[in-house]
Amino acid sequence: MKIFKTINELKNYRKDCKGSVGFVPTMGALHNGHLSLIKNSVEQNDKTIVSIFVNPTQFLPGEDLDIYPKRELADIKICELAGVDAVFIPNTKEIYGEIEPQILAPNKKGYILEGLKRPGHFDGVLRVVLKLFGIVNPTNAYFGKKDAQQLYLIKNMVNSFFLDISIVGCEIVREEDGLALSSRNLYLSLEDRTEALKISKSLKVASQAMIKGVFDCKKIKKIMSETMENMDIEYIEIVDRDFNKIDKIILKNSIILVVAIVGGTRLIDNLWI
Ligand code: PAJ
Repeated sequence: MKIFKTINELKNYRKDCKGSVGFVPTMGALHNGHLSLIKNSVEQNDKTIVSIFVNPTQFLPGEDLDIYPKRELADIKICELAGVDAVFIPNTKEIYGEIEPQILAPNKKGYILEGLKRPGHFDGVLRVVLKLFGIVNPTNAYFGKKDAQQLYLIKNMVNSFFLDISIVGCEIVREEDGLALSSRNLYLSLEDRTEALKISKSLKVASQAMIKGVFDCKKIKKIMSETMENMDIEYIEIVDRDFNKIDKIILKNSIILVVAIVGGTRLIDNLWI
């Protein structure tokens, strides 16, 4: 497995790749969620490239940029065992210049929900993903459904800029007890972790209600907030797959989104219906 720190090295390598190239962008501290994206890519492409870059422009002032977990050696080992062909680990100077055009998330869909709570976050995400796409020039790029709005906005960007890249959305990977995997789970104490389980439980309760025929979004949201009693809920929202708010669940076209803060850590989860 090759490890590249510079854009030139990566581009030279990419030039000689024959067939399809799968790309998995990450911020490192890899877990089984990332691994499932990587496995999909390895299975579906001739070559797989993974990037590890904690992108400063997607963190707001006061967020966890400085303490974001770094596990470079373990990450490299995970990639190697998974059959990755090349890992790209640039530093910030490699990626960002002093004078750059602005990339802004779309007004309507980039500043609601996650974008409302973290204004500017998606500007940074789209900016770095566009740069990484320019460097890697992938055939297929893999993103998790866990970050549902991110996935939507990246698909939208690829369509808007007419990029020849297929965006593949991958299923959410959970711990056995239901907690959605996240690099930020490393911040949780044992007590926090137990509390955090209420988030995935609320989604389970929502799906049980739907099995019983409840599709009214207000009712679903109420049942979910009852399950998350005493929690610091940031939002529970139900949208269609284009991120329009809806009143009634539409099967195969809805997403329930939930965000709560547990012991200071912001945890997001969702259910695609
Ligand atoms: P990061 O949080 O490292 O996540 C990298 C990819 O892994 C994202 O597409 C995310 O949705 C996916 N992922 C994380 N947890 C997952 C889980 N439990 N199940 C399935 N997929 C999961 O998302 C980012 O990095 C950054 O914003 C990035 C796209 C790399 C741009 O900087």
